Amino acid sequence: MRARILHQFRHLRFPVVCLLLLCHNGHLLNMECCVLPSPPSHKIKAYIRELYARLANVGTANLSRAPIAAGKNLAHDLGYDTSNLSISNKVWDLFAGCGNPLEEIDLEPDWTILDLGCGVGVDSQVAALSLRTPGRVIGLDITAEFLRLARDYANVRSKLYCHWIAADAEELPLRNKTADLTIANGSFNLIPQKEQALVEINRILKPGGYLAMADLVRVGKIESMPSSDEDAWAWCVAGALSTNEYDTLLRSTGFSWWRVSMKSSYGPLASAHVLARKHQLS
Ligand SMILES: C[S@@+](CC[C@H](N)C(=O)[O-])C[C@H]1O[C@@H](n2cnc3c(N)ncnc32)[C@H](O)[C@@H]1O
Repeated sequence: MRARILHQFRHLRFPVVCLLLLCHNGHLLNMECCVLPSPPSHKIKAYIRELYARLANVGTANLSRAPIAAGKNLAHDLGYDTSNLSISNKVWDLFAGCGNPLEEIDLEPDWTILDLGCGVGVDSQVAALSLRTPGRVIGLDITAEFLRLARDYANVRSKLYCHWIAADAEELPLRNKTADLTIANGSFNLIPQKEQALVEINRILKPGGYLAMADLVRVGKIESMPSSDEDAWAWCVAGALSTNEYDTLLRSTGFSWWRVSMKSSYGPLASAHVLARKHQLS
């Protein structure tokens, strides 16, 4: 059974966390492969927090012994200018994104940007490089250990422009119409109640504001889906939406326009960028 799961994802190079869970301590995780109801939201979140806290404490986004793209190499492959951006190697080492959402949009220097599931804050730091007062980045994550490192390793501009908040994407502690842009790199997939998160994102966006996400989308049938297991969530498989599901959710939560651009395909999953815009008159 495990071989079948692995076979489906043989082309998957990232997100790294997905792969490292396959090789937990050098052994494959024991996944039960029947389709059962998803675990309750709080269990998924507790599991995700525990996993990412472990990554933060170890200091690498790659716990696997497999030779997989991770950290700075992965970021370079995804189009980040890793040699010229002034970002600490300790931050690059913990990069666990699925793409490069900032590639989708030209930032205005006075924007307020929410980095949802910011992790150690690579995209927050990249965005901060384009800002000037009153522009700011709010890096938000449920894993406090990541935020501590984001604070500790912030570069000079991030110290000026980034604010780090421990919170849940499903209950954003921000006022209505706060942000010009929300970015989410590899985190939307991990949120159990996606509709609730999109309602929240839409609420805190200014009219005409943007949402730019990079994530895995489901493009084929995932056989042997271990959907009853928290591992499947943290593994970025159980939470992957199809493009049709994105269409339905974005429409129902008040976005007026969106596009899903496929990047690379990995068997039944593909990495994609999603860019959406809130109604200008809302
Ligand atoms: C795959 S990592 C990506 C981190 C970062 N965006 C990057 O590119 O390195 C996913 C992040 O989403 C965070 N996350 C997962 N569920 C969340 C939720 N419900 N609310 C806020 N953050 C969440 C995790 O703690 C983790 O830091």
